[in-house]
Amino acid sequence: MTGYQSASLYKRHTPPAERVTALLSQMTLAEKIGQMTQVEKNSITPEAVAAYGIGSVLSGGGGNPTPNTPETWARMTRRYQEAALRSRLGIPLLYGTDAVHGHNNVVGATIFPHNAGLGATRDPELVERIGRITAVELLATHVHWNFAPCVAVPQDIRWGRAYEGFGEQTGLVAQMGAAAIRGLQEAGNGRRQAVLACAKHYVGDGGTVWGSAGQYEWIQDNWQRAGSQYQIDQGEMTGDETMLRAIHLPPYRAAIEAGVRSIMVSFSSWGGLKLHAHKYLLTDVLKGEMGFTGFLISDWMAIDQLDPDFYTCVVTAVNAGLDMIMVPFDYRRFISTLTQAVEKGDVSPTRIEDAARRILTVKQEMGLFEHPFGDESLLPQVGSQAHRQAAREAVRRSLVLLKNEGALPLSRQTPRLLVSGAAADDVGLQCGGWTIEWQGQSGPVTPGTTFLAGVRDMVAAETAVYYQPDGRFPAHLTADAGIVVLSEPPYAEGAGDRADLTLPASDIALIERVRSHCQQLIVILYSGRPLIITDCLPHCDAFIAAWLPGSEGQGISDVLFGDYPFSGKLPFTWPRSMNQIPACPPEDSPLFPYGYGLTTNEGGEAI
Ligand code: GLC
Repeated sequence: MTGYQSASLYKRHTPPAERVTALLSQMTLAEKIGQMTQVEKNSITPEAVAAYGIGSVLSGGGGNPTPNTPETWARMTRRYQEAALRSRLGIPLLYGTDAVHGHNNVVGATIFPHNAGLGATRDPELVERIGRITAVELLATHVHWNFAPCVAVPQDIRWGRAYEGFGEQTGLVAQMGAAAIRGLQEAGNGRRQAVLACAKHYVGDGGTVWGSAGQYEWIQDNWQRAGSQYQIDQGEMTGDETMLRAIHLPPYRAAIEAGVRSIMVSFSSWGGLKLHAHKYLLTDVLKGEMGFTGFLISDWMAIDQLDPDFYTCVVTAVNAGLDMIMVPFDYRRFISTLTQAVEKGDVSPTRIEDAARRILTVKQEMGLFEHPFGDESLLPQVGSQAHRQAAREAVRRSLVLLKNEGALPLSRQTPRLLVSGAAADDVGLQCGGWTIEWQGQSGPVTPGTTFLAGVRDMVAAETAVYYQPDGRFPAHLTADAGIVVLSEPPYAEGAGDRADLTLPASDIALIERVRSHCQQLIVILYSGRPLIITDCLPHCDAFIAAWLPGSEGQGISDVLFGDYPFSGKLPFTWPRSMNQIPACPPEDSPLFPYGYGLTTNEGGEAI
């Protein structure tokens, strides 16, 4: 029984809207502003959550308990919710995290392909199913809010967040984003609860221009200052309103139609104005014209970028239409500043009332007052075989076959197989950014199956598999087939902004080394985006774009050996050279066009 439920306010027969009104009528200004405050878990104690009536706590990328297990996650988040229920009115909090390709901060969770790979499947039903599975793993750990899906429409693949987009085409992004939202938010699978989805980052985050990222000398947070090294992430979106409405807005219409109830605002700018200050786009367009009745959350310290003066930041953002502010660190400063702004008349009580009402209405709709906790009986499903099989299927369907000259499918009975490339036996490189740690990292970061383990499991007992990460096999060793697995290093956000996407010379050298040992050479690339592979293509007989497959690497060998057909289609145009980035000149032709992908029939023969 929560404080709210024990109070006379909570009457089961009262319609939800009236319950919210009744609750608001009892709330002080401080309690309303508390609901508008989201704090990173390392910056606030459960006691302070109760004292300030905090509306939400988040785990940012890597905001993990120690040790990092599903059980310790559940214990951590439960303590915050128990504290929230001890607040005067017992309003439950929303615990949020970025589960952008599974519950990816949790060691042992199922890690799915990143969105670029899901875009390659062209299958919204699969994406919806992944949303449902992710929701189960989130609720097992009492996390009710997922800062996903990202519905960016990346237009320049040099952007470090390109892989968080489903693809370069608006229609594909809108379709897949809506499917992810349905999967997360609609209860099902015997679940009594939904997870709150969050379409992000509104609007035009994928349309920024190289070199336009801002400088914020007045911000003390390391990563925000590091952001001054960003090139395109958080930058300025070019183009007029017609372009914005044609390319970047439709995924939000689709998200609203799919029932999304929270939207995260973008760090980027349009027309020289930061989106977090953009009243026209936040309030007039999104809430007014498009009828969005959920709530808007800011991004990580994004309001601090608006002005050197924090009071101005708070007033500008809240008046522009932000309802909840992600204040990773100094929540006391935010609360006191917003309180002062209301007392001075710079922010109206009506705006505060509207923001608090939006937040409470969503909590009410989610059933959070009746069921403030997730369901720890779901813990055995975190990283379960059934979930991993679904991830394995997603890997299979995400693979795009760009070249195949008689090399695939491989035979399970091939006598000798050479495998090389550090990424061939590295779950961390398989998963990419937003995995356990914000930036991701190489190595056995979480339970999963590497590509190499998948191959060993697939081939006949008498097949000899030789693995040499650097490709320096004994000079006499030859084989019918050799496989080289290349990968980008893991990255997230602006840390992945790259001026030159050409495959490094070391990768070309590796390919040439292995080439000399085998009849047929297959190259597999783990990347968050297309890379410039033009020079390597003549040296191989087959080339597979595997994107960032996640924990279930055996999905790749399933297709390589012909158990399943290749079916993936490019979600991004594949450029021939850097001269074709950000866009291929009309008189030019890309290496492979958007939608390209060789298919194979069930037997695996090219058709
Ligand atoms: C990050 C990202 C956003 C994420 C948030 C919380 O900076 O821009 O996508 O949801 O902070 O981790």
